[in-house]
Amino acid sequence: MISAQGLTRRFGDRAAVTDLSLSVPEGAVLGLLGPNGAGKTTTVRLLTCLLSPDAGSALVAGHDIATDPQAVRRSVGLLTESPGLYKRLSVWQNLLLFAQLHEVAKPEEKAQRYLSLMGLWDRRKDLAGTLSKGLAQRLALARALVHEPPALFLDEPTAGLDPEAAREVRILMEELRSEQRAVILCTHNLPEAERLCDRIVVLNTRSVSEGTPQELKLRMFGARTVVRLARPQPELAPALRDLPFVKEAESSDGELSVEMEKAETHNPELVRHLVEMGAEILHVLPQERTLEDVYLKLMEDEDAA
Ligand SMILES: Nc1ncnc2c1ncn2[C@@H]1O[C@H](COP(=O)(O)OP(=O)(O)OP(=O)(O)O)[C@@H](O)[C@H]1O
Ligand SMILES: [Mg+2]
Repeated sequence: MISAQGLTRRFGDRAAVTDLSLSVPEGAVLGLLGPNGAGKTTTVRLLTCLLSPDAGSALVAGHDIATDPQAVRRSVGLLTESPGLYKRLSVWQNLLLFAQLHEVAKPEEKAQRYLSLMGLWDRRKDLAGTLSKGLAQRLALARALVHEPPALFLDEPTAGLDPEAAREVRILMEELRSEQRAVILCTHNLPEAERLCDRIVVLNTRSVSEGTPQELKLRMFGARTVVRLARPQPELAPALRDLPFVKEAESSDGELSVEMEKAETHNPELVRHLVEMGAEILHVLPQERTLEDVYLKLMEDEDAA
């Protein structure tokens, strides 16, 4: 649904996006993560034809961004960092106007549906300029959805929303996925990305790492198992290191942390060896890593490079 090869864009002599390739099938959410100035918004603007690339190519909903920008713009829903609403029009007029511009069938019906969905029906007569930041964000989101586009670009959709509204937006995103839309989500909210995204691209003007959240965790941290012991047995860690499938083993207090090639196949073997070594095992658990751990480690490595 969305695919890009070698996208590159500079502003003067500063690189904003360099040689970026990505692809998002229908029904999938791709998360774009990265520090401020990493090129997330620039990527979205390139893929929605608000900006032209210096090099590279992309297809969005089957349309080439270079040769068919009109068709691309028709196929995308875009939530930008700043909502960009018509402040002197009402909430209702803002949405209806946009639905009509997109030549949506039954624009009133759709406008009502998405205003209600975003909890704005009661505010439909208010001027958009009088909405609070979060309410304006909800209207902008309704506007991104009202023409029910196959490809959606959401640049920090939950920024500025109260926790309840943010949760509703996350639920909505899960629905969008089940409706077979392709979504690109830029966010600084790492738990949100971990929960919503099928794949993640970590950007720092170029792609730093790419994969499912699970793949990124394994790549950065390996498969680790934590063995909680009934009492400290520091002699176990050195003995474990001699086992061929153990990459690393550390002990602290009553806990062993063991890195292996593959937890699924090596955990049973690990436990068997530990019991033979006289370990008094209380619990065996996978070591939980979050996407935040991955992100922070990637950025640490970037700084060191
Ligand atoms: N119109 C522009 N003119 C000049 N420089 C620009 C322009 N737009 C973006 N840039 C620069 O390109 C780089 C990437 O910006 P971009 O907005 O894509 O980052 P981002 O990842 O979205 O950051 P943030 O997390 O702060 O939203 C930055 O250095 C930015 O200053
Ligand atoms: Mg941005």
